[in-house]
Amino acid sequence: MRIRSFEEYQAAYQKSVEDPEAFWAEVAQHFQWRKPWTKTLQWNFEEPSIKWFVGGKLNITENCLDRHLAERGDQPAIIWEPNDPNEAGTTLTYRMLHDQVCRFANVLKRNGVVKGDRVCIYMPMVPELAIAVLACARIGAVHSVVFGGFSAQSIADRINDAQCKVVVTADGSYRGNKEVPLKNTVDDALIACPSVKRVIVMTRTRTPVSMIKGRDVWWEQELKQVTADCPAEEMDAEDMLFILYTSGSTGKPKGVVHTCGGYMVYAAYTFQNVFQYENNQVHFCTADIGWITGHSYIVYGPLACGATSLIFEGVPTYPDAGRFWDITDKHNVNILYTAPTAIRSLMGFGTDVVAKHDLSSLQVLGSVGEPINAEAWHWYDDNIGKNRCPIVDTWWQTETGGILISPLAGITKTKPTFATLPLPGVQPILVDENGKEIEGNGVSGNLCMKFPWPGILRTTYGDHERCRQTYFATYPGLYFTGDGCLRDEDGYYRITGRVDDVLNVSGHRIGTAEVENAINMHTGVVESAVVGYPHDIKGQGIYAYVITEHELDDKDADLTKRDINATVSRVIGPIAKPDKIQFVSGLPKTRSGKIMRRILRKIAEGDTSNLGDTTTLLDPAVVEDIKAGAL
Ligand code: WT7
Repeated sequence: MRIRSFEEYQAAYQKSVEDPEAFWAEVAQHFQWRKPWTKTLQWNFEEPSIKWFVGGKLNITENCLDRHLAERGDQPAIIWEPNDPNEAGTTLTYRMLHDQVCRFANVLKRNGVVKGDRVCIYMPMVPELAIAVLACARIGAVHSVVFGGFSAQSIADRINDAQCKVVVTADGSYRGNKEVPLKNTVDDALIACPSVKRVIVMTRTRTPVSMIKGRDVWWEQELKQVTADCPAEEMDAEDMLFILYTSGSTGKPKGVVHTCGGYMVYAAYTFQNVFQYENNQVHFCTADIGWITGHSYIVYGPLACGATSLIFEGVPTYPDAGRFWDITDKHNVNILYTAPTAIRSLMGFGTDVVAKHDLSSLQVLGSVGEPINAEAWHWYDDNIGKNRCPIVDTWWQTETGGILISPLAGITKTKPTFATLPLPGVQPILVDENGKEIEGNGVSGNLCMKFPWPGILRTTYGDHERCRQTYFATYPGLYFTGDGCLRDEDGYYRITGRVDDVLNVSGHRIGTAEVENAINMHTGVVESAVVGYPHDIKGQGIYAYVITEHELDDKDADLTKRDINATVSRVIGPIAKPDKIQFVSGLPKTRSGKIMRRILRKIAEGDTSNLGDTTTLLDPAVVEDIKAGAL
């Protein structure tokens, strides 16, 4: 399962294409199965129907925990670094983590959770978040983690879509010098969530919370009622492991579904090979477990490989911009995996902050979530890796379960801004607008995959047709990623960004339609159109064009902008707040009523010299108005 040289990579790749079933069967043998599979792969991309390791039985927590007890029971599984550097952190060995997962699994059972039930988890970045996730997996419950920055409305939408029975949360969370009231937000959400029968509340901030009799229980009280004996539920390879919601080009987020067997194999295989993980290394992934990066490369991938995974509760700039480097030195971090947006924001604080740190424990650096620009790549390489740590620019998606295109650390020759080459088992193809393959090198097109890998999504929860429409219908026979991509003369891949109406703001995926819907809920708003524009730190910023019922004077316009931001925060969450709001009298529409976003994008980018053909517009004059008022 371990690739150690570029020749081995080439051989593995070739085998994975010539005989994918044999290739993945061999990889999967490194895991612990209760019952072997009878067929390695059954698939078609038409329905789509994708099944890996058919008939195989397992429990992912036996692979992440029990399996390691004999050899590395006393090795740290999780190192937790709290928000406040002066607060004591904790280290959980594999034995301790196993014990706590079993106990909390029993708490879930005591509270009525059975195999197949959905559990919503809305928690701070504390070890208990990973424990709750693994406890669900232990008993075959399906977790749906919701990022702690989402609003009550977003939580409610996700809970209702998945019909969650239980919510696991905390009283509050600490982020920098802010205290965030999680339980209050859950209470607001639950006004509209009849499926929820129980809320389990962990104590973190000890901020006052209301506890509803018959519905809400304390995590700590519940733990006193259970033992640490909890045999793992036997799961089918294709039983659901989790749902994770992600934004698309339509208004409503989709519940991406991953299953037990394929996801486990793929998360572990990619963790081991991309980062070239060696026994006893400390892996620090700075993402939140509320996103797929945290699922695959804080929890499941590292633990399935017996690694030590660091969980950081806080933010990169608290108490100062050296926090990541403090943590790196304090815990002797070997692998650091973070996002370009974090690198760019830390770059702004200068190299003095970094120079005070040793950083000699670092061996591999990773980047994820958005294209990394050359300047950030070199800053990371020079100042953090000191030109001795390979950088892996890993391209993947919530839907892919794990990394698809990336260098293997120290093995694949890197090239700044390129995710380089597909991993074994990954068969990318570039197509034009009509779905025709674009062959050869030195070309660009829409990035698709022509063959399944074990971590590919299986469906979108409760709406399989939506899954088919979104990913498998644009180009029949292919999985469409939604990304544009360049393949250069060396056959290296560079992801150039989304080709649909999805923004990537600080590595977070945000649908423009979602933001528009939220803005349109604001009183006095008639219509809006949202586009992205290049932003120095966030990668993309959110630019909103808004038509109001009445014309606003300067003072009212300022206040209204703040109110609109408050509405968007309330409806989606602070991450979706527009960076710029321009009030306009009209939007450029075609005669059939379609907004010409291309024009709005150009204006938002500050490039008004060549707006292309505007003759098909219903009222070309609005373009001049918008140009005149551009921010
Ligand atoms: C979208 C997926 C799973 C990663 C975390 C985000 C963009 C992701 C890269 C990269 C260029 C990247 C793509 C992709 N993206 N990684 N290394 N280079 N773009 O997961 O929220 O599902 O977003 O993030 O546009 O489609 P996500």
